[in-house]
Amino acid sequence: MNMTGKFITLDGVDGAGKSTHIAFVADWLRRQGREVIVTREPGGTPLGETLRELLLHRDMDADTELLLMFAARQEHLAQLILPALARGAWVLSDRFTDASYAYQCGGRGIAAERVAALEAWVQRGFSPDLTLLFDVPPEVAEARRSAARAADRFEREAELFYNRVRQAYLDRAQADPQRIRVLDARHTIAELQAEITRLLQELA
Ligand code: TYD
Repeated sequence: MNMTGKFITLDGVDGAGKSTHIAFVADWLRRQGREVIVTREPGGTPLGETLRELLLHRDMDADTELLLMFAARQEHLAQLILPALARGAWVLSDRFTDASYAYQCGGRGIAAERVAALEAWVQRGFSPDLTLLFDVPPEVAEARRSAARAADRFEREAELFYNRVRQAYLDRAQADPQRIRVLDARHTIAELQAEITRLLQELA
């Protein structure tokens, strides 16, 4: 496929503040004259949003959770992400496959080989051009989460779970430092925006 757009993902533990920054990234790119699509995972398509409701609110086996994440991702890639990139749009996704490694492997303890097998099946070598990883110590994230709206299944997990999720994200960043850029989410919004702008300029 002749792809001209770029795929940027934002990720990190719940409460790291990535949602604040996705609008900034979209605005910045639009000011450069790019067509920008903002989307999220799990979700991004009508079927994916239905799966999201189940994933966030229904109890299920950890492998079922992983499989549904990738079912939603398959639909997302086929219906939205790949067609948008093919016509030259830039796609921003609030979470992507790094979240499956962090939450389902790090958090739930599923073997990484399982995620890797699904990733190969669904993505066929495709991966983001840039991932902004918002990193924050679990106690800071926890305080931000409790200040927000009612908690979903993931947000009700204990601090130990979030320590493992965070570590899994950091391990992924260490293994692929070119794609995954770690941002310290304790910095001010202005500092983070300056750093994000620098990273976008490298890519644009
Ligand atoms: P989140 O971005 O936190 O939504 P919101 O900001 O509206 O609360 O995403 C929902 C949850 O889904 C989040 O707790 C992490 C989880 N998740 C996984 O466990 N695995 C995945 O592959 C993805 C994409 C998300």
